[in-house]
Amino acid sequence: MFLFTTVAAYRSQRRAWQGKTVALVPTMGALHEGHRALIRHARSVADVVVVSIFVNPLQFGPQEDLAAYPRPKEQDLASCEALGVDAVFYPHPSEMYPDGPEPLTRVIPPASMTEHFCGAFRPGHFEGVATVVLKLFSIVQPDVAVFGEKDAQQLAIIQKMTHDLNVPVRIVPHPTLRDERGLALSSRNQYLKTPQEQEAALCLSQILFGAQQALAEAGGSLPAKETLDRLQAAVLAPWECSPVSVRVQYLAAVDPVTFQPVAQLRPGVRVLIAAYVNQVRLIDNCLLT
Ligand code: PAJ
Repeated sequence: MFLFTTVAAYRSQRRAWQGKTVALVPTMGALHEGHRALIRHARSVADVVVVSIFVNPLQFGPQEDLAAYPRPKEQDLASCEALGVDAVFYPHPSEMYPDGPEPLTRVIPPASMTEHFCGAFRPGHFEGVATVVLKLFSIVQPDVAVFGEKDAQQLAIIQKMTHDLNVPVRIVPHPTLRDERGLALSSRNQYLKTPQEQEAALCLSQILFGAQQALAEAGGSLPAKETLDRLQAAVLAPWECSPVSVRVQYLAAVDPVTFQPVAQLRPGVRVLIAAYVNQVRLIDNCLLT
């Protein structure tokens, strides 16, 4: 497996792969089974698999702890090696942003896709994501890039960017990996320290699965707000007098492509949730069938 830390070194190898298809899996490292599923999928759709590992300062807000983001480099490289990855692109921030954060040309996704949900609570976040992803595409020059549905707003914004800017990369979505109890895998789950916090984190998927079940029972469609409010109240009730606080930041039904809120739950609609379990912010979503 190649390990590249500079654009120049990667580029010379990229030339040697001329004629082969290249799949990129962009990550910020701290690889878990969710990332590994994306890498395995990438293996099945292209000749060459490149994983990028870069904790992108541009997508962290001033209140978010960039320095504390886990960076288990040796473990991540061993994971990639074991999965048969051909190359890891592991740049230093100074390689990605040699002029620092300013002056910098940035990708600004449409406000309609960033003003709600995660974008509303993380100003500038999706601008940072779109900018780094376009840079990674320019550097790695993949034919295909695999993204998780776990970060559904991010995925929709990347799809819109590649469409609007004619970026010649096919975006392949991958379903969310969950543990046996339904919790979506995330590098943030390691901050859930006590068994009670881990139990409380299941509220997110319980609300989503509840919406899916309610729709299946109703058939056709259901009013989104009333249904989601009712499910939220039912799932959170047991936690009201508990020492673990569960606070829903947003819970909404959206069109999966435009990310505009919709009034009815029906097949094809995506339900999104973000919640704090004590101080840990978690997100999850599901596509209703
Ligand atoms: P990161 O959080 O490391 O996630 C990398 C990829 O793994 C994303 O496409 C994400 O959606 C996917 N992923 C995370 N958890 C998953 C799960 N449980 N199941 C399936 N896929 C999962 O997302 C980022 O990094 C960054 O914003 C990045 C795109 C790399 C730009 O910096």
